[in-house]
Amino acid sequence: MRKAVIAGNWKMHMTCAEAQAFADAFKPLVANLPAGRSVVLAPPFTAIATLSNALQGSGVQISAQNIHWQEKGAFTGMISAPMLLEHGVTHAIVGHSEPRKYYSETDEQINLRARSAQKHGIVPILCVGESDSQREAGEAERVIRRQVEQGVDGLDPARLIVAYEPIWAIGTGKTCEAAEANRICGLIRQWVGYPEVVIQYGGSVNPATIDQLMAQSDIDGVLVGGASLDPEGFARIANYQLPVAAV
Ligand code: 13P
Repeated sequence: MRKAVIAGNWKMHMTCAEAQAFADAFKPLVANLPAGRSVVLAPPFTAIATLSNALQGSGVQISAQNIHWQEKGAFTGMISAPMLLEHGVTHAIVGHSEPRKYYSETDEQINLRARSAQKHGIVPILCVGESDSQREAGEAERVIRRQVEQGVDGLDPARLIVAYEPIWAIGTGKTCEAAEANRICGLIRQWVGYPEVVIQYGGSVNPATIDQLMAQSDIDGVLVGGASLDPEGFARIANYQLPVAAV
């Protein structure tokens, strides 16, 4: 049975004071989650220590939003695995479409980031997904397959999460239709070649769409952006409910 992993990516939001207030409101709302479900939050680097301390004892895990492939050195602006481990970080997002686009991250670099994470016992959350124009040109599957195959090269799939995040669904309010998201997640599972790999969907997930998404056979969790900034809304997502037939 694959574990359900509900993750929130705060992107460049939340000061330490805001993260503390979020944690105070959020903790009691996720105190009684059903078994087999885990919650992960990815604050900006500056709020990791605050959030990690504030969520002690809650079972909520902490992710970095990126990770460098070297342990230390002359890499201005970067953060390494040992630095993250010091703060109890358990996961690291790699290959998100925003650093792919804004900082020209390549599949090769993303793979190195993921390998460094695993080497230090951190679970990489490898993001893949096509743009609007790639989907319209019928290239979605080819693009995603390349991102998956190059991204997971040399990784242990038992300690990996892959997040399918179609770029056209991110921050647009256009959630990918659940059946289509499920179809792509099924293909990703085949391309990884490990049936037990945990696969998330991400892109405008919100409290109104979560139950239907989590009812899909190949969607094991979600990676939530905007809706993870609100403690009540994100708690509702973490407390998703399956329709009776899918339980
Ligand atoms: P939104 O949920 O805001 O669309 O963001 C998705 C995302 O990019 C999560 O990593």
